[in-house]
Amino acid sequence: MIKLENVTKAYPTGNTALADVSFNIERGEFVFLIGPSGSGKTTLFRLLIRDTVPTTGSIRIGDWDLVTLPHKKVHNLRKNIGMVFQDLKLLRDRTIYENIMFPLEVGNMDTKEAKERVDMIIDRVGIADHVNKFPIQLSGGELQRAAIARALAFNPEILLADEPTGNLDSTTSWEIMKLLQDINAGGTTIIMATHSADIVNSLKKRTLVLEKGTLTRDDARESSKHDDSVGLEKDNIVEETKE
Ligand SMILES: Nc1ncnc2c1ncn2[C@@H]1O[C@H](COP(=O)(O)OP(=O)(O)O)[C@@H](O)[C@H]1O
Ligand SMILES: [Mg+2]
Repeated sequence: MIKLENVTKAYPTGNTALADVSFNIERGEFVFLIGPSGSGKTTLFRLLIRDTVPTTGSIRIGDWDLVTLPHKKVHNLRKNIGMVFQDLKLLRDRTIYENIMFPLEVGNMDTKEAKERVDMIIDRVGIADHVNKFPIQLSGGELQRAAIARALAFNPEILLADEPTGNLDSTTSWEIMKLLQDINAGGTTIIMATHSADIVNSLKKRTLVLEKGTLTRDDARESSKHDDSVGLEKDNIVEETKE
């Protein structure tokens, strides 16, 4: 479903963030992406949401070729790939409810359908008590849940979570892990970047290790889940409405 072949990303500054990285991830997998700060984890996520393009190599997600994908199709791709950013990127001047609603508004979803969707997601991630608050009024764990909720707005097939437990205490981290595992059990493919040896060692998931931009380990323990019956195909993705 996600296929990287010989991906190298050099930033214009001369930094090579990723060097010759190749791997496949199948539908429904839960994969940890680990490596020290600066090893290329966030760059890999940015490539997967087409926030940037590789210098060389190919990236395919389902039928999408991310290198040649036209700019005007990028938002279609992003409906299928939810991203929980390392710095969350919640809008400070909007409530949690409005933050979760935001991508649906931008995506021109029918208001009634959008509200139903948001209510369902709020329930699923367990932040019903906080939806009318502003981000500054929430704890770290609640903010993380809000960011996960927003990433789920379009019911994406893939969820990328960039160090979602990075700033949380151990109890709260495990609550977030439980939520992510529940989402994965519902069929969503998850890639989670983390520093936490405790979480990685406890959960026995496939683990990709990056060191200075090189993939030094791909421990594909549970990588056999595969189901071709529902595909991330161009036909399944709603075309953009004409402006
Ligand atoms: N926008 C950028 N411009 C130049 N260099 C960058 C940029 N983003 C990241 N880098 C560099 O690329 C490398 C990988 O960074 P990053 O992907 O953020 O790693 P991680 O998420 O594992 O900490 C680092 O050396 C970092 O300094
Ligand atoms: Mg990072």
